[in-house]
Amino acid sequence: MIDISVGQYRYSAYLEAVITEVLQAIRHCRRCVVLTGAGISAESGVPTFRGDDGLWNKFRPEELATVDAFMANSKLVWEWYNWRRDVMDTVQPNAGHYALRDFAEYFENFTLITQNVDGLHTRAGSENVLELHGNINRNKCLDCNREYIESDEIKPDKIPSCTYCGGKIRPDVVWFGEMLDPQVIQKAISESEKADLFFSIGTSALVHPAASLPSGAKRTGAILIEVNPEITPLSHLADFRLQSTAGGVLPQIVRGLQESA
Ligand code: APR
Repeated sequence: MIDISVGQYRYSAYLEAVITEVLQAIRHCRRCVVLTGAGISAESGVPTFRGDDGLWNKFRPEELATVDAFMANSKLVWEWYNWRRDVMDTVQPNAGHYALRDFAEYFENFTLITQNVDGLHTRAGSENVLELHGNINRNKCLDCNREYIESDEIKPDKIPSCTYCGGKIRPDVVWFGEMLDPQVIQKAISESEKADLFFSIGTSALVHPAASLPSGAKRTGAILIEVNPEITPLSHLADFRLQSTAGGVLPQIVRGLQESA
């Protein structure tokens, strides 16, 4: 494993050297899978969950991101999600999102899996993104799961009911304790197991089943590359660890792919 946790003064030279190693190692890879977490949206101004200014340092997930929380105080949960939507309305995709859009053209098979619900990969132009944890911009019925498209604007003190079954309308995101969409997670597992290259980018690698995708890919033969300024439980498994930001490293990797194309 090549680790670039060196002093800042040699940092850029060392980073260049490791990126050259990475490009050399992946030059014959054909099936690339990327898993992203909140870290890739951090440079867009979207708060992560577990960083120093993370959402879970300010709010208690069990009070806001569970079915019980919603049943107990749906007005508070909708106020929180409307606040998060307002944040999303003010942000734009960053260089990391655009670099991953460009990754797709350099591999025969490319799959982008995200834990993020902010929709920024799609806004950057990535297609067929597997959104493991849903999308904050969509709404659905708490009871019958049908998508609610009558209105995007949900007033916390006047939560609409499902036009089919009368159930309460909720954000279309996966809450703690909930199952992921079986089709989405099955596709993510299947593509990860067929990958010969797997990037884990901007995730603390703590929340399953997403966190087990990288090790599953490595087990079935993929080169595993982690992009994260911090160490994570996955770091020791990575073939290459780029201790950097997504927006700082991914455009350099795309430039290298372009030059060797
Ligand atoms: N570039 C790359 N990585 C970054 C950057 C950056 N600019 N900034 C922060 N990071 C890293 C942090 O070091 C951290 O390891 O991104 C990671 C973010 O971790 P979390 O906040 O735990 O977010 P994530 O891994 O996506 O959480 C997974 O947990 O609460 C649930 O549903 C929620 O999808 C989320 C899941």
